[in-house]
Amino acid sequence: MTFDRSIKIAPSILSADFANFGAEIQAIEAQGADWVHIDVMDGHFVPNLTFGPMAVKAFRPHVKTVMDVHLMIAPVDPYIDAYADAGTDILTAHVEAGPHIHRTLQAIRGAGMKAGVALNPGTPAEAVVHLLDLTDLICVMTVNPGFGGQKYIDMTAKVRRLREMVGDREIHIEIDGGMDPNTAPGMAAAGADVLVAGSAVFRDGSVQKPEVYGANMRAIRFAVAR
Ligand code: DX5
Ligand code: ZN
Repeated sequence: MTFDRSIKIAPSILSADFANFGAEIQAIEAQGADWVHIDVMDGHFVPNLTFGPMAVKAFRPHVKTVMDVHLMIAPVDPYIDAYADAGTDILTAHVEAGPHIHRTLQAIRGAGMKAGVALNPGTPAEAVVHLLDLTDLICVMTVNPGFGGQKYIDMTAKVRRLREMVGDREIHIEIDGGMDPNTAPGMAAAGADVLVAGSAVFRDGSVQKPEVYGANMRAIRFAVAR
């Protein structure tokens, strides 16, 4: 993976057809997805359950771009090796998931993956100030994690602050929650380069109508470029 700050769209397969993940991943990539975002939930750290490392391993052969795995689980550390074995490119853990995020990020890199750290809406940018040298991606939640299709919570000031803190470091700033053609431009202007979008990408499309996914992603890109 080479680093750049161009805008990347990372569809969240949380909004895909759960009976058809392989074809859904192929469809979004064929329609121009830059990364594939995979939301792992444990029913404990967040009030919803999705899938675990065995499912993620099954997704891997379908992902030709970047497999971006967002863990909304606690604890994280016992599962790091399983996500490495599943072929994860970027593994993101929440700063709120336990007292030892520093150790967790070290362990993620130690297992050969890029390390991401996610911040809930109520968590300040400063929570990552001592983690920057261990971090490849900062995920700013613009909804409270757990569900797709929620209303965007404005985090512009936090994203600006993080962009200043990151400086020249090769750290992606990713926005997750409520991204669509109305909300994405402000986040990109504030310094984000990865836009996760679930409902706004999958809305009205299907593997039979994949061109809708392409049009939905282009609508976000055009809005950001304007
Ligand atoms: C929320 C997840 C998001 C979510 C985004 O807990 O982390 O990735 O799927 O969905 P939308 O784009 O529908 O807000
Ligand atoms: Zn996510």
